[in-house]
Amino acid sequence: MASLPWKNDSNCFLLPQTNQLKVLLTIIRNRDTSRGDFVFYSDRIIRLLVEEALNHLPVVEKSINTPMGIEFPGVTFQGRICGVSIMRAGESMEQGLRHVCTGVRIGKVLIQRDEDTALPKLYYSKLPEDISERWVLLLDPMLATGGSAASTIDLLLKANVPEDRILFINLICCPEGIEYITTRFPKIKIITAEVDQGMDDHKFIVPGLGDFGDRYFGTK
Ligand code: PRP
Ligand code: URA
Repeated sequence: MASLPWKNDSNCFLLPQTNQLKVLLTIIRNRDTSRGDFVFYSDRIIRLLVEEALNHLPVVEKSINTPMGIEFPGVTFQGRICGVSIMRAGESMEQGLRHVCTGVRIGKVLIQRDEDTALPKLYYSKLPEDISERWVLLLDPMLATGGSAASTIDLLLKANVPEDRILFINLICCPEGIEYITTRFPKIKIITAEVDQGMDDHKFIVPGLGDFGDRYFGTK
């Protein structure tokens, strides 16, 4: 797991750039990929991201007994977790989280970017009552300007979630979004599969993959 090259002390972590990951990303970036394949291969990357995010959670010692009658000095996760998805695209990541963490609680925040200004607008939120005592896995596949994620993180901080207990899991981001989030929230960790070049005039990530929500849910 490498820190991003332009910041040695960055809290942004890039998945290992294996050939497998490169193949998966190439498929979902391709405009000719069918919706079914887009969903299938995005889900595979999401699974890798969730697994990696769990590597960042602290553990404590836990002694257990094996069937061989021997005590084993193991470990267990220190705290409980929950997911928070930024609707709608973030909902695509819920299943990947549930596959790894059965029964996990998932809060939802409905934030949409205005199609003209690209500014985020909050419509709805529902978070687990005890969220302040949990580690929060924030789910959104795209980090462009960072506006949607920042609005959600503001909500989480208002709900008394400590900043250093938020892990933002994301498929594709760009330097502007990382800079914005890590400057405003220096203790948050970002786990991402790839960092793209930047954004176009409409604040879409380039080369990117287009509108993730539309492609995943088939609305365009
Ligand atoms: C997308 C994406 C992020 C946001 C990223 O959602 O899922 O939430 O844009 O852009 P930002 O970093 O500039 O805020 P969008 O508002 O398009 O809605 P959707 O989930 O319905 O596709
Ligand atoms: N949201 C998307 O779905 N794609 C982008 O490139 C930027 C925001």
